[in-house]
Amino acid sequence: MKKYLIGKRISLHGLTKEQLTLDQPYYHWLDDLSLDLFTNRSYFPNNMEKMEAYYQQAIANNNLLLLGIFDNETSKHIGNITLQNIDWIHQTAFIAWVLGDKTFAGKGIVTEAGIMTMYYGFNKLNLERICGGVVEDHPASKKVCLKSGLKIEGVKRKFFKRNGKRYDSIVMGALRDEWMETHSEKAEEIFQELPI
Ligand SMILES: CC(C)(COP(=O)(O)OP(=O)(O)OC[C@H]1O[C@@H](n2cnc3c(N)ncnc32)[C@H](O)[C@@H]1OP(=O)(O)O)[C@@H](O)C(=O)NCCC(=O)NCCS
Repeated sequence: MKKYLIGKRISLHGLTKEQLTLDQPYYHWLDDLSLDLFTNRSYFPNNMEKMEAYYQQAIANNNLLLLGIFDNETSKHIGNITLQNIDWIHQTAFIAWVLGDKTFAGKGIVTEAGIMTMYYGFNKLNLERICGGVVEDHPASKKVCLKSGLKIEGVKRKFFKRNGKRYDSIVMGALRDEWMETHSEKAEEIFQELPI
């Protein structure tokens, strides 16, 4: 198994170019409009150049950490998780995820990936604040944010528009010290090997 962030059930690894090809699952998640519920991911169809440009961005700058979520048992690539807009001066970042393989939904996978990524962000990347956001009408994602230790900080009113309807967007955030108090033990249970 590739080693980067190793959990008991899932592992988070950097992606290779082979994982971006048409015969791999990732490519197809980006064209699956049913995975684009309340996200900005799929307004335009996917193509190889777009995917590679995003991948190159992750390789070329230190402001984007892009990790694949892999199931340990099958080694399947089932989703992605990112720390975006990493600001090294103010020590902040934005967390986002997608679970591409629907057969893994509702099993706590994204919550585990979120906790692993936040632990890594706070302890290895030395971030002090991780932000998140979710459209109010997306209860599963809101629940994942809360279980991962993001707290509701405010509301951007009527921020998101889809199908002629505007939705509030919930602003969320976690501060390192608070998060470590409430979630470090949980993280220790999820990791097979804690990142040191
Ligand atoms: C939405 C998504 C992030 C959830 O991931 P997941 O791994 O299935 O989430 P988890 O199993 O960790 O947790 C989901 C929680 O939401 C709850 N939930 C699911 N549907 C719900 C609903 N309609 N109302 C309230 N809670 C709901 C589940 O019961 C679970 O909580 P519990 O563990 O306390 O029972 C994931 O399915 C995904 O990325 N889907 C792709 C499409 C998408 O919506 N992306 C938006 C990402 S912002």
